Amino acid sequence: MGNVVIVGSSNTDMVLNVPDIPKPGQTLSGNCFTTTGGGKGANQAVAVAKASTDKQETYFIACIGDDSLGSIALASYKAEGINTKYICVESGVSSGVALIFVADSGENSIGINPGANAKLSPDYIEAAGEAIVNSDVLLTQLETPIPAVLKAMQIAKSAGTKTILNPAPAAELPEEIFALLDYFTPNQIETEMYTGVFPESEDSARQAAEVLLAKGVKNVIITMGSKGSFCMNSEQAEFVPAIKVKAIDTVAAGDTFNGVFASAIARGETLIKSLKLATIAGGIAVTRKGAQDSAPSLEEILNNY
Ligand code: RIB
Repeated sequence: MGNVVIVGSSNTDMVLNVPDIPKPGQTLSGNCFTTTGGGKGANQAVAVAKASTDKQETYFIACIGDDSLGSIALASYKAEGINTKYICVESGVSSGVALIFVADSGENSIGINPGANAKLSPDYIEAAGEAIVNSDVLLTQLETPIPAVLKAMQIAKSAGTKTILNPAPAAELPEEIFALLDYFTPNQIETEMYTGVFPESEDSARQAAEVLLAKGVKNVIITMGSKGSFCMNSEQAEFVPAIKVKAIDTVAAGDTFNGVFASAIARGETLIKSLKLATIAGGIAVTRKGAQDSAPSLEEILNNY
């Protein structure tokens, strides 16, 4: 009861802390370099596992390479209590890598080599379909091929598993996918790409949400950075303000938000309570360095609720 399956990417993040993000042609000295677990899918899986109860299982469907980075990633997912049975090891392919600059302001800039993530195919999703059928919620993003994301959504829909799509990084989507989405969680830039409306206020967020609801999405959740998030469905519309914190590293804050939201929805929490828990978790995550390391435990989230 309350199981969550994440379909998505696994990366190793190579992070350099710098005073400012270097401009084209500029060389800057950093003050700290770390190699750590990353990838939007993996970050979400770790956030789910940390924010779930002992009764909830977290499945991760992903592809890694047969290299040392892949082995380290796999061991770390197991250590977090994630069910890794459906992680495929592709031979002769390198694992995903992200090169990240984090500025003193907390902002970041990321370049990715997808490696094995690009091998996640609809056939592989089909083979791992029992994990989707055995889950209450499916959470995906767009750092793996879109045909695989679509296949996962289709399997979830026929099995009655609730679906969440976090469209990051933004990419063109087949129109048919929107009607398969129980929850769609774009940020402001992604929202503009899918609707043509930049949601800078509650009013414009409502306008954008109306466009997405008309496409067939059941619940729209627009994340608006340090302002908070706006959610809307056919019956309710509500703005959930962010918590006030001093951000030092925003990497994976959105992943933590989505993971904690998925875990709460899978436990049967209401839309608004799930959003509040996700907001607290995202707020805590930006006060700490790292992607997966910054995700809080369920106890910590509840202590701040
Ligand atoms: O969302 C943050 C993540 O984006 C990083 O961990 C990096 O791996 C990229 O996938």
